[in-house]
Amino acid sequence: MVDEKATEDKQMNAIQNSLFLDATPQPMPETPNTPNLAIKEKLQSTIAVRGEFQLPCMPTMLEQYVKLVRGLLKVLGQKPTQTEMQALERQLSKKLAEGFDRSPHAYLTLTYQLARPALGLTGGIAFSIVVNTDPTEAQPSFSEAKSSRFGRYPDAMAMAIAAELGDALQVPVLDIGAGIGRNSLPLAKRGHPVEAIASNPLVGKQLTELAHSRGLAVKVLANDVLDRAALSMTYRLAIASEVLPHLRGSDRVEQFFRQTSSVLQPGGVLLVAAFLAKGDYQPDAKVRELSEALGCYLLTRQELKEAIASLPLQLIGNESVVSYESQHLPSEAWPPSDNFLNWATGRELFPTLTNPPVELRWLQFRRV
Ligand SMILES: C[S@@+](CC[C@H](N)C(=O)[O-])C[C@H]1O[C@@H](n2cnc3c(N)ncnc32)[C@H](O)[C@@H]1O
Repeated sequence: MVDEKATEDKQMNAIQNSLFLDATPQPMPETPNTPNLAIKEKLQSTIAVRGEFQLPCMPTMLEQYVKLVRGLLKVLGQKPTQTEMQALERQLSKKLAEGFDRSPHAYLTLTYQLARPALGLTGGIAFSIVVNTDPTEAQPSFSEAKSSRFGRYPDAMAMAIAAELGDALQVPVLDIGAGIGRNSLPLAKRGHPVEAIASNPLVGKQLTELAHSRGLAVKVLANDVLDRAALSMTYRLAIASEVLPHLRGSDRVEQFFRQTSSVLQPGGVLLVAAFLAKGDYQPDAKVRELSEALGCYLLTRQELKEAIASLPLQLIGNESVVSYESQHLPSEAWPPSDNFLNWATGRELFPTLTNPPVELRWLQFRRV
């Protein structure tokens, strides 16, 4: 069914953001007063053009996007004035910021077409800029999860720590951003009381049904991990597997550590998979924006230190997820998917580097 309101809004949005580059039909170098020049002018007026760019909403890309548009206009024989280009740049800048703020997966659809169709290319080009965001966070259904980035097997590290903590019944676990229970279900099967945070209610429902169908007691909390009110008990183990890479901004990361440390029992363990910069690598704004868009939000060592500085958390383990999991998962479970290795080694972010300056690490903290 067509959502008329949404269509109208979209059209209004497009109209409001249209920018007519009249290109003040540039006078030909010479008046087309010869048959050849007159024909050239005529042909220009019969050419139609229409197209679009899909541009990731990364504010640091503004300059490149403006260059792209300039290049296009040049190819189309348009000569925009400085004022017109400045207006386009302002619109682009505003929309990039708006989209990036809404979602790291947002992108701009920048459409160009004839401003005055009857005049062809001699009548200028009109642009419209619309922000698109993913309708919902794509969540794999159970069957799709078989081919998801993380595979079907629980994390070897999470299972090993749970086992080390002793009698499962005495080790309540909080699985943060549990998805459909890749870790929650096997942990419940070991006998742990498990609470699972699923911020997406549909995913939470799927997890509840799966647990129920297997006769496992997993209590699903449909909340944001950053919402302290959701958490009723204290846990001996809290796991956040592949969740931190989806957070955005140091404030949220700090809040994440503050909330989770506050629900851990003294001596309890927090296990987090996070992208850490190697050595003293300092990502610039572009790298940071792209890391958010690709779901590999990254922290420098200093940022990690600052995030936990005032908290009763002690870092007791820090090792490469790839090297640990490849050695401890059953051979048929490694790698978890075709794209896991690229992502976890940082090559999704830096495809041409053999040794990217970031990687996914298992960080283990003890609540002191
Ligand atoms: C990539 S999935 C990982 C699922 C599961 N932990 C696993 O490893 O299979 C990331 C999950 O984190 C959840 N998530 C992201 N931010 C969250 C937040 N602030 N609070 C609760 N869950 C969150 C998402 O809804 C999603 O289910």
